[in-house]
Amino acid sequence: MILTVTLNAAIDRTVAVPNFRLARRHRAVESRTVAGGKGINVARALTLLGRPVIAAGFVGGPTGTRVLEQLREESVLTDFTRIAAETRINLAVIDPTSGDQTEINERGPAVSPEEVKQLFERIGYLSSGAKICVLAGSLPPGAGDDLYARLIADLSRRGVAVVLDAEGEAMLEGVRAGASMVTPNEREAEELVGQEFSDGSDLATGLNELVRLGAVEAAITRPEGCVAAVGEGAERRLLEVHTEPLEPVSTVGSGDAFLAGYVAARYEGRSAEDCLAYGVACGAESTQHFGAGTVDRNQVERLLGEVAVHDLEVPAEV
Ligand SMILES: Nc1ncnc2c1ncn2[C@@H]1O[C@H](COP(=O)(O)OP(=O)(O)OP(=O)(O)O)[C@@H](O)[C@H]1O
Ligand SMILES: [Mg+2]
Repeated sequence: MILTVTLNAAIDRTVAVPNFRLARRHRAVESRTVAGGKGINVARALTLLGRPVIAAGFVGGPTGTRVLEQLREESVLTDFTRIAAETRINLAVIDPTSGDQTEINERGPAVSPEEVKQLFERIGYLSSGAKICVLAGSLPPGAGDDLYARLIADLSRRGVAVVLDAEGEAMLEGVRAGASMVTPNEREAEELVGQEFSDGSDLATGLNELVRLGAVEAAITRPEGCVAAVGEGAERRLLEVHTEPLEPVSTVGSGDAFLAGYVAARYEGRSAEDCLAYGVACGAESTQHFGAGTVDRNQVERLLGEVAVHDLEVPAEV
């Protein structure tokens, strides 16, 4: 099976408020609540794609219980580690008159060293049945920026491939710890390698740098698909995966859907090209839905026909 780990899970609450203004009292005309956090979104998408997945991570308090209940309603299998502090709630206010979205995200509860130890035991146990593990999203405060790096070291020793999608220091340390695949978007990749990308040659440099830092393979996502460094040693290739950007309903969680598609295909032992193309098709399809990690499997197959994979063209040095 596939394991997803969400260390900073959330309840994502979205309310629709026409003519939203600061410092006023409003009445919401519509609201919805879903379990969130990147790893959870990936687990949701994998479930919709019909792949065997277990969602793990930390949950705490009544809001944590709510996360588990929501996932059960969506038939997502879970095995979370309970923590003492309360899981966070993220609030998004959408103004239907302007289309503006205002987000207020809590940082999330701190975790204790003892709770981290329990998580490692749980993941160690689950990993015996796992082929691939997805680590995605922010880390809880107090966990230390090296938590993903430590999980990667532990899972690699157990022979589980780890796909990592995070930002900042947590991501950098995970890259250095030798994640099997990392999937930053362009902005995150620029931050990781400390350079802005203006053309294909910059993207190629960025990919090579992610590998030099320690990642086995790397993909940099963008609305028109992704570029990726795949294969090891003499087999190394730089690929460009392209699809025509769609008019989105919502791009929130498109990166999570990309990740789910990539992992779904990799779980079946497909080629690097096929895995990336399936990821791009899933990312694209998810933009046609409101909920993060929501994909329609049949529409993904249709979009897959429009995804092209070729070698990344690197302009000659001038
Ligand atoms: N407008 C779009 N049309 C078609 N496909 C899209 C569009 N936006 C994103 N995608 C698909 O989704 C994938 C991930 O997109 P992107 O790089 O925007 O993710 P992200 O910024 O990590 O998103 P998030 O972290 O919010 O989930 C891309 O590889 C692409 O396949
Ligand atoms: Mg992302």
